[in-house]
Amino acid sequence: MKIIGINGSPRKSQSRTGQLVQEVLNSARTAGAETEYFNITDVKLNFCFACGKCHEVGYCIQKDDFESLMDKIMAADGLVVGSPVYIYQITAQLKVWVDRLGGPTIHCQKLLGKYGAVVATSGSAGENETAQYLESTLINTGMQCVGRVAGSIEVDGLLTPDSSLMQYAKELGLSLVRAIENKQEFPEQIQAHQQFKEYFRYVILQQKEAWNWEYKYWQEKGWL
Ligand SMILES: Cc1cc2nc3c(=O)[nH]c(=O)nc-3n(C[C@H](O)[C@H](O)[C@H](O)COP(=O)(O)O)c2cc1C
Repeated sequence: MKIIGINGSPRKSQSRTGQLVQEVLNSARTAGAETEYFNITDVKLNFCFACGKCHEVGYCIQKDDFESLMDKIMAADGLVVGSPVYIYQITAQLKVWVDRLGGPTIHCQKLLGKYGAVVATSGSAGENETAQYLESTLINTGMQCVGRVAGSIEVDGLLTPDSSLMQYAKELGLSLVRAIENKQEFPEQIQAHQQFKEYFRYVILQQKEAWNWEYKYWQEKGWL
């Protein structure tokens, strides 16, 4: 079992979000998973420039780290994504990655069958809305989300190992491993995937010529 973690904070070793994402991974490792961790600011990601080529060819034509990160995610069973709250949203650095999912990853539900977990930290407010946004994003890719750690941390500095958020992160890691092992089903999320497909089917049919690769993917999956 393989689980990837991504921290959307630029503060790397000083990031509380990163501590929590790593704690989820540490706990998953104790339950037998292999893990890999990334700080988003170490991943070279350009803005999506909306060329639309990904719909046609099935991958992003930009020469940066996006496709290699996605290859790792595609080869994994689980994904943990965390962000600090920056003015009631995820960080701009992480949003660049999210925008790049807008091609085949979301349109073709490429992460169907995988499981996700999210982390959000704030200084005072907005952590639940930010966690909710991350969960919706993961569900939009076809994943099922097992839960979140969302906390407001009003003091400076790193979290102590015995803090309640670190304990929640441990539990979240175990939940993630269990969901993967048991192929757990979250009915509301499965329904959301089905609703997406019902609606998006018409978009794919309309864009048949322009979005050649995505049309073929849907055809091969028998979703049309
Ligand atoms: C640019 C910026 C914007 C922020 N915006 C908010 C905010 O809107 N609400 C809030 O409660 N905290 C805000 N914070 C505080 C961070 O969310 C908080 O300190 C978080 O725990 C930092 O996570 P990190 O340690 O992983 O970097 C902001 C911090 C920065 C640097």
